[in-house]
Parts: sequence; structure tokens; C-alpha cells
Amino acid sequence: MKVLIVGDVFSKLGRASFQKNVKKIKEQEQVDFIIVNGENTSHGRGMNKNHYKWYMEQGVDVITLGNHAFHNKDILEYIGDAENIVRPYNFSEDSPGKGYVTMHCKGLKITVFQVIGKVFMNSEHGNPFKAAKKILENVESDIYICDFHGEATSEKIAFALAFDGKIQIVFGTHTHVQTNDARILENGTAYITDVGMTGALDGVIGVKKEIIISRYLNEVAERFSPENTGKTQFNAILVEIDENSKKPANIDIINVIE
Ligand SMILES: [Fe+2]
Ligand SMILES: [Fe+2]
Repeated sequence: MKVLIVGDVFSKLGRASFQKNVKKIKEQEQVDFIIVNGENTSHGRGMNKNHYKWYMEQGVDVITLGNHAFHNKDILEYIGDAENIVRPYNFSEDSPGKGYVTMHCKGLKITVFQVIGKVFMNSEHGNPFKAAKKILENVESDIYICDFHGEATSEKIAFALAFDGKIQIVFGTHTHVQTNDARILENGTAYITDVGMTGALDGVIGVKKEIIISRYLNEVAERFSPENTGKTQFNAILVEIDENSKKPANIDIINVIE
């Protein structure tokens, strides 16, 4: 079974790059399951209903979110009914939406969940390690896939090693920069610290560079606006899972600049 996981799709260029590259990969590879991080899909902040429907048309199986989960208020109208959207499980219990979903693919149960990190993030969230433990103890599944949405590389690799062999795929999101450390860990977990973003190449993690440079240089906070012109980057991983042993056999990184 091949699982394609695409990192944070950012605004207009991200959506265009996603559509083009996912179509191409599907033509070249037998992709069975697609996960995308959608927290930046609509103007860089959140995901509106039209974009959710658009993902469904592209054959996406599960969409994960992150710290921008509810920044586009549209989502509050439909997340309750959506069966395949995942927000961080360690958000407060009364948050809208679900922290995990269990889907069926090729006769196997696949549970996709998300946790959000605490290092350099809003520290009010629950402990991501304890949250993952709770899911593994309470949700029966053949395959577990976790999106660790966090800033700190140390927190992400510590998480992956803590659950090595128990969660089949741990992939990081949020930094928008693809890391060069994709591998299968000792006990069988396929891991990457960050999948990287899909969207503008020459912005600052998706945002127009002038706005962010001015923020740092002049210490003037301007409203964020996505970079909608120039080259794009498409960042993803493709993980092959052996259906008999239910263990990852291979992890490949995909990085397309065009
Ligand atoms: Fe993001
Ligand atoms: Fe994020």
C-alpha cells in the first residue's frame, strides 16, 4: 500500500502545485491513500468549505490541520459533519472537530491522528506524548499515522522514537521546510521531521517576503499576505507499507521546484 502525504498547502500557488503534482504522481505510482496538511489552504489561514470540497475532488482521503485550524471561520460550519478532517487531538476537549479518524483501505483499518507540539508553540495545549499514548491504548487499528505539528526538531524526533514501532508513520508539519532526515527507524516507524510546504518558493514560508522582512528589519507588524507569484515548491513523502506485516517498507521524499 502506498501512502502519499503532502505538507502544508499554502494558498493559491499551493493549491495549483498540489493539483498538478498529485495528478502526476498518481499517473506514475499506484497511490492508495492520500493525506494532506490543509491548515494554510485558504489565503494561508485555515480551510474554507469550497477548498475542502476541492480536496475531495482530488481524491484526498484525510486532511490534517494545525495551529491555523479555526482561523477561517467557515470551517466551524462543516467540520462537525466532515468524516475525514483531523485537528490536533491535544487541543482542548471541547474544540470543534475530531483529533483522529479511522478509515478503511485495502482491507486494513488506518487511523490518522494529529498532535500539536508544545515547544515554541502555544503551551496551553495538552501533552502530545500522552495524547498519542491515549489513542494507541483506546483506538483499535491496523495502521496508525500521526501528523506531529510542531516547531522544534527535537520534540518531533523524540516523539517518533518514543512511539517507534507503534505508529507506522510519524510525519512532521508546521515549519514549512522539508528536512533531510526521512528514514525508517529501528523498530519500523517511517519518519520525517518535516514534510515541508507546498506553495510559493520565494516567499517566507508562504507569505510575501517584503512583509516578513519588514517585520524583522523595521519591527513593524503588517498584515500577512500570501505570495501568489513566482516559482512553486511541492513537498511530500511517499511511504510504502507492506500489507501483510503492516510495516513500512520504504519512505521516499518528493521535492518538486518549478
Ligand atoms: Fe502550516
Ligand atoms: Fe502550523
